[in-house]
Amino acid sequence: MLAIDGPAASGKGTLARRLAAHFGLPHLDTGLLYRATARALLDAGQPLDNALAAAAAAGELDPARFDEERLRGAEMGEAASVVAAFPQVRQALAAMQRRFAGQPGGAVLDGRDIGTVICPDATVKLFVTASPEIRAARRHRELAQKPDAPDFGTVLADIRRRDARDSGRADAPLLAAPDAVILDTSSLDIEEAFAQAARLVMDRITTA
Ligand code: DC
Repeated sequence: MLAIDGPAASGKGTLARRLAAHFGLPHLDTGLLYRATARALLDAGQPLDNALAAAAAAGELDPARFDEERLRGAEMGEAASVVAAFPQVRQALAAMQRRFAGQPGGAVLDGRDIGTVICPDATVKLFVTASPEIRAARRHRELAQKPDAPDFGTVLADIRRRDARDSGRADAPLLAAPDAVILDTSSLDIEEAFAQAARLVMDRITTA
């Protein structure tokens, strides 16, 4: 089982998808679960700061019906980060993630607490990171194609705020597990990052 954690816009999602395809494993982007929880609350006209309503929404999620288009984007990422701070929400989502991780043959999960809380016994743990400025620059470049694209300063401020909330919460904060391999992609493009990640996974698997 492969656990991939890291901050917003670190490239962990792309790496997780590529590694899953490369090793022929199913992949779960656990950020989508928190995003869908926030989306369900907003769709029901509920505030994001109601822990009980958020936990109930998390317990009723049906990943088969996720509309990824509506879950992507910085706004939902921010909303997800708010509901993700509630221990009741994290608890409501834990069993689903552990079931996915326990599939025979293995799986790839990416998120913030996979190697620390969800799957502390994962065969391989990667912590993918990059400086806030580099992550903001990548995100800014991605968004530049869209109408109403935010400026670099806004993107950087969003990333810093999300880092602070995800790292500062009491329950399952964003943290590298002590036995995680840190992959800093600040000076790597996606192909180099993938090549390094695949090599790290192979090294771990062969020495496990
Ligand atoms: O990976 P992402 O940007 O889609 O995640 C959105 C938010 O969800 C993130 O800011 C914090 C939360 N999250 C979490 O707390 N734990 C996870 N395993 C995945 C995401």
